[in-house]
Amino acid sequence: MKLSETPFISVHEIQERVADLAEIISQNYAQRELLLVTVLKGSAVFAADLMRALNRPLQLDYVRVRSYNGGESTGAHVFTLLPEAPLAGQHVLVVEDILDTGLTATAILERLRAAGPASLALCTLLDKPSRRRVAITADYVGFTIDEIFVVGYGLDYNERFRELPDLRVLTL
Ligand code: IMP
Repeated sequence: MKLSETPFISVHEIQERVADLAEIISQNYAQRELLLVTVLKGSAVFAADLMRALNRPLQLDYVRVRSYNGGESTGAHVFTLLPEAPLAGQHVLVVEDILDTGLTATAILERLRAAGPASLALCTLLDKPSRRRVAITADYVGFTIDEIFVVGYGLDYNERFRELPDLRVLTL
């Protein structure tokens, strides 16, 4: 296992992209109050930055999903945390760290949609479209990347590397 010494995406690049996304999202939700649903644990850092860059009133909640297969998604998802706030009639934006096979995000959107939000959209920091196993596209994407494993900025490998301020490539 080898962690790249240089950033794959630097702190500065992340900050600039988060600011861009926040501007687009703010415009799209100009007339609507947002409820951000952050997917734990990987999206915590991204959501914290995005929420402050949005610079508008919003509500924050969390969801946590476990997929049973120590890494790769299997399609069997168990929710260990669901939003406390009632989602009915709310404008919900799900904040994800990375869209890989797409199975996790699909399960989350399905589950939240059942709670009857007025609108439901997905924002992901990273997107690996070449790995997709189900048809899902995010409404907002930070960076589209190839089939590489990245850590840092909240993303982990076996609970390690979340604290890195930038995104690095981990060669497994
Ligand atoms: P999916 O269901 O395959 O889309 O899984 C998405 C989840 O897999 C993410 O929320 C991450 O927890 C994890 N994951 C996928 N690719 C990476 C990566 O490159 N680095 C860290 N975690 C990843």
